[in-house]
Amino acid sequence: MSTKSATETSTPLSSGSAGPLSGRCRVPGDKSISHRALILGGLAVGRTRVAGLLEGEDVLCTAAAMRALGAGIIRDNDGAWSVSGVGIGGLQEPEAILDLGNSGTGTRLLMGAVAGHDLTAFFSGDASLRKRPMARVTEPLKRMGARITARAGGKLPLAIIGAAEPLPLTYATPVASAQVKSAILLAGLSAPGETTVIEPLASRDHTENLMRHFGATVTSTATNEGGRRITVIGQPELRARDLVIPGDPSSAAFPAVAALVLPNSAIEITGIGINPLRAGLFTTLSEMGADIQLSNRRIEGGEPVADLVISASALRGVTVPAERAPSMIDEYPILAVAAAFANGPTIMHGLAELRVKESDRLAAIAQGLADCGIEVAIEGDTLIVRGTGERPEGGAAVAAALDHRIAMSFLVLGMAARRPVTIDDAATIATSFPGFVALMNGLGAAIAEAHP
Ligand code: S3P
Repeated sequence: MSTKSATETSTPLSSGSAGPLSGRCRVPGDKSISHRALILGGLAVGRTRVAGLLEGEDVLCTAAAMRALGAGIIRDNDGAWSVSGVGIGGLQEPEAILDLGNSGTGTRLLMGAVAGHDLTAFFSGDASLRKRPMARVTEPLKRMGARITARAGGKLPLAIIGAAEPLPLTYATPVASAQVKSAILLAGLSAPGETTVIEPLASRDHTENLMRHFGATVTSTATNEGGRRITVIGQPELRARDLVIPGDPSSAAFPAVAALVLPNSAIEITGIGINPLRAGLFTTLSEMGADIQLSNRRIEGGEPVADLVISASALRGVTVPAERAPSMIDEYPILAVAAAFANGPTIMHGLAELRVKESDRLAAIAQGLADCGIEVAIEGDTLIVRGTGERPEGGAAVAAALDHRIAMSFLVLGMAARRPVTIDDAATIATSFPGFVALMNGLGAAIAEAHP
């Protein structure tokens, strides 16, 4: 099997038995922070230089949308990006539909940003994005004065007529979603006074951190119910300020789990964001017996960062509480793969939100694992993977369903299973992890174009 020419544009891909992984790597920049850097940089006054921006398709869609809204965004020769902001209130009406591709984050955050501007904008995206619920964002934005018309069920395409004079809002979100929280806070930047979001569990706080980085006043306090209450003071003057984006822990998760399940592996991944509101996977893997060492802890661009050394480990099944879900919401597909190699059942509670990600991830994980010979069950919003401590059979053809994390997770499974695993569409990987195949093969994986 030749691994030379395989990339994440080749479709389909096959991942076969790999030797131990070794070496040192960096993964691309954090996707969540990259979207926010472009949006908030575009709302600041002056030029922000962003180093380490993720150049994945999702983020490039947000860059194109922010350009269409009037921000100046260019990639400099040294690989950093320059964002020339227009100031809050300064966004222009885009001439064409804003096409956000596969990106729920780009869509929902930009909806918030434009909701407080006196302009009309149309949003659409790919077949996956057009299935995803938007009412969770449109309802609060309407209360702030935006007028929004969406397709039945609150789906894309939709049109927003932003409020010339947006109203501040205090809103308790029914779901712990950083996208919902961020949309409201971004709209709140244009409103006079305080806009407050109360969330039932703490979700990732990159919007709050970056708003502060650009000079806004944002407070965040714990609620008695275990959630958080976040307030932004509206109509600040955001000032351009350079930043460095850490490596994406959600991307690091793939080589990390591969190294854990492939005997005798040891790899280092440098410069990874370890924000506690993103670190649930590493907590869970440690509970499973994973050997993950953190070193060189530092703060970059207002975010905690570290280097990780991961060594192959015998994993055991654990129970993952529902309260941990927001801190690892994107990591359940790869955790389920780790669980397939563990000894004993891994029981993951509180996964209802996985039904409305890039695919119905709960169904996609269960189907793919079952096809690979692993005992798996869904009970309500709980996923149970019954690992035996033996290598799973593998040998399946898995449908990626326009979902990058499903595609990458099953390629990792194929690396250590008895028989190779194939995914039907690798192009989706480029939404979040361009260079995934080369990086994994550089560490010792055997991912190649699949020849039917
Ligand atoms: C994200 C938040 C999460 C996550 C997504 C990125 C963000 O979605 O799944 O990949 O950058 O705010 P929810 O906020 O809807 O849970």
